[in-house]
Amino acid sequence: MFKEYDIRAKEILKGMTLEEKIGQLNQSVLPGEDRLEEYKDKIRRGEIGSIILTTSATAGNDEQKAIVVEHLNSLQKTAMEESRVKIPMIYGRDVIHGHHTVYPIPLASAASFDPELVRQCYRCIAEDATSESTHWTFSPMLDLCRDPRWGRIIEGPGEDPYLASRMAEAYVKGFQGDDLSAPDSMVACAKHYVGYGFSEGGRDYHRTEISDYTLYNYVLPPFRAAVKAGAGTVMSSFNDINGEPVTSSKKYLTDILRGNLGFEGFVIADWFAVSQLKRQGLAEDMADCTRLALNAGLDMDMADEHYINTLRDLVLSGEVSMETLDEAVLRVLRVKLAAGLFDNPYVEAKKIDRAHHVALSEKLAAESMVLVKNDGVLPLRKDQTIVASSPFFDDRRLLHGSWALDGYLGASTPSLREALNEVVGQGGGTVYTCDYGIHDNSTYWLAHADTVLLLLGESHTVTGEARCRSDISLTPDQEAICRKAKATGKKVVGVIFCGRPLALESVEPYLDAILIAWHGGTRAAHAAIKTVFGDYNPSGRAPVTFVRRTGHIPLYYNVTSSGRPVDGYYGEHPEFCYTDSPASPLYPFGYGLSYTTFEYSDAKAERCEIGYEDIINGEKLKFTVKVKNTGDRAGKETAQIYIRDLKASYMRPLRELKGFKKIALEPGEEKEVTFELGYEELGFYLPDGSYTLERGLFEIYIGKDCLAGKSFEVFVK
Ligand code: BGC
Repeated sequence: MFKEYDIRAKEILKGMTLEEKIGQLNQSVLPGEDRLEEYKDKIRRGEIGSIILTTSATAGNDEQKAIVVEHLNSLQKTAMEESRVKIPMIYGRDVIHGHHTVYPIPLASAASFDPELVRQCYRCIAEDATSESTHWTFSPMLDLCRDPRWGRIIEGPGEDPYLASRMAEAYVKGFQGDDLSAPDSMVACAKHYVGYGFSEGGRDYHRTEISDYTLYNYVLPPFRAAVKAGAGTVMSSFNDINGEPVTSSKKYLTDILRGNLGFEGFVIADWFAVSQLKRQGLAEDMADCTRLALNAGLDMDMADEHYINTLRDLVLSGEVSMETLDEAVLRVLRVKLAAGLFDNPYVEAKKIDRAHHVALSEKLAAESMVLVKNDGVLPLRKDQTIVASSPFFDDRRLLHGSWALDGYLGASTPSLREALNEVVGQGGGTVYTCDYGIHDNSTYWLAHADTVLLLLGESHTVTGEARCRSDISLTPDQEAICRKAKATGKKVVGVIFCGRPLALESVEPYLDAILIAWHGGTRAAHAAIKTVFGDYNPSGRAPVTFVRRTGHIPLYYNVTSSGRPVDGYYGEHPEFCYTDSPASPLYPFGYGLSYTTFEYSDAKAERCEIGYEDIINGEKLKFTVKVKNTGDRAGKETAQIYIRDLKASYMRPLRELKGFKKIALEPGEEKEVTFELGYEELGFYLPDGSYTLERGLFEIYIGKDCLAGKSFEVFVK
């Protein structure tokens, strides 16, 4: 996809000086108005290839300068008209889950189990962000994560490589569209390559220990999918793997990324990551950092200006070869050409259909709601009296979640209080809101209330980059509200707004229903409240395991079997788990309820044996199952298929998701769902990165979540 721009890129390269080449690998930070002239001088000299449109290290949590399109157009004009080589700059910003319209956090998008809807939403995000000069987004974040203490779990696709891969494709296709050179397409950046989600202890920026076997089978698949879907760039990650910083690793950046995954675009460093090589103990000085990073295959330096300051001398002394430099520059040029920047370097004002974006944002937020408990209480009737309590009735910013740099706040993001009054008002009911806690003065209302509604969870300020938590349960005051609410004897509904799968064991007994609403974006409040009152039927599924309590971390569904009966995820054992707690999850991967009920029947396998050569040559095993809506409401069910490779040369997981289908069913309606498994689904990677399928027996599980019972055994002969 990018190699086809090689001839033109090489022609451009031929006309470039050493300094101009180095400039293409330099990404500077967004200048304020006071520095525009200084930047123009640098641009005239060809010293800036890209600008990151942020100004601080943790952009997802800090206030960022708003983008001024005229400034960016005028800087670009300098590049196009006053520099010698006339190469456009590429502008990048963290457009993670929305621009002005904010969509649910990526972990919630994954919970929708609806890649096509996600693709549509990310197409709108691209349209929104490109209209304000952002050619390139530092998204999608594809870090598989088994530790919800890590604040950045909100940005990623959860714990499963298959779901993550389908989401990766959706994000990339959404951002980049069918034609990357179209003005409303933006270059995607698969990050953080690689292994950052395995930060030890869930502490951000920490070291990781990842075997090649785990890397290939769990960590790399979403990156492989993003590369295959055409992602133009990849961001290297801060972490080291087994003592090797990714920033300076030829193994990860060149051999695996370009060799094994076939990546053709360019690699950008994470923020100041090149300079961090010194702190990581690999480099002595700035030049050493540059030498190690560029020689490893890291093409563009983000923000710390190490390349621009030291690369010239390194090339002249031969420590970095001209060939290595040229290759990096060519990669950058190819992406700029593919993105159409040479033909369309400027942004023109255009009209955005915001109503459409907002509607899609609400749709995705609604589809991502995960109903994890419902003792016959939800949905609520709108004509009743509700006593509602929340610590964040009016906190619009929280609803957006972390990494929403440009989200429109104010009235365009309705608050929970506004949504609640509006929705209950429509049905003629009454809401009494207690700002925090069930106050004494609510006694009168409690006596008359039919239901207590608690809108709880965590703030966006404890999620995202450098926002890890050592305890992921609800705060003690929120636990106290749950207890107090239960003591009223009324039915209690808990809606949990969060950026991670919180550990809810301590409040679960006090809540008759629990709806996980995540941080849902611009329309989070309406999506959640309308779900509570039955305008939407929840259909999200857990994209990650919900542990009972923090001490259970890590707990993930696709674990290998042990030699002893300690498979806590799939069943309790009195001797071989914790002495003080059941070892199983509170809510397993893939789990989620609906207001209606679904029945699976008539599971059939077209055949239960397949020849080894046949499957390698593309033949597949086909399975069908009937799914019926047996309740009295329309709803959506996500049928899932898991496999277990019973005997292989390496231990294989107890379950691996290999397909899912989300289907809409009217009451009484039945549909047949088909799954196919072939070479790609039944094989696995060996530690040397080669892919293998081994003969033998596989178990197949089809059902509602990862605890689905065994449906078939199939044999690869
Ligand atoms: C984060 C990246 C982000 C970059 C630029 C870093 O601190 O790790 O995810 O893209 O900053 O804002």
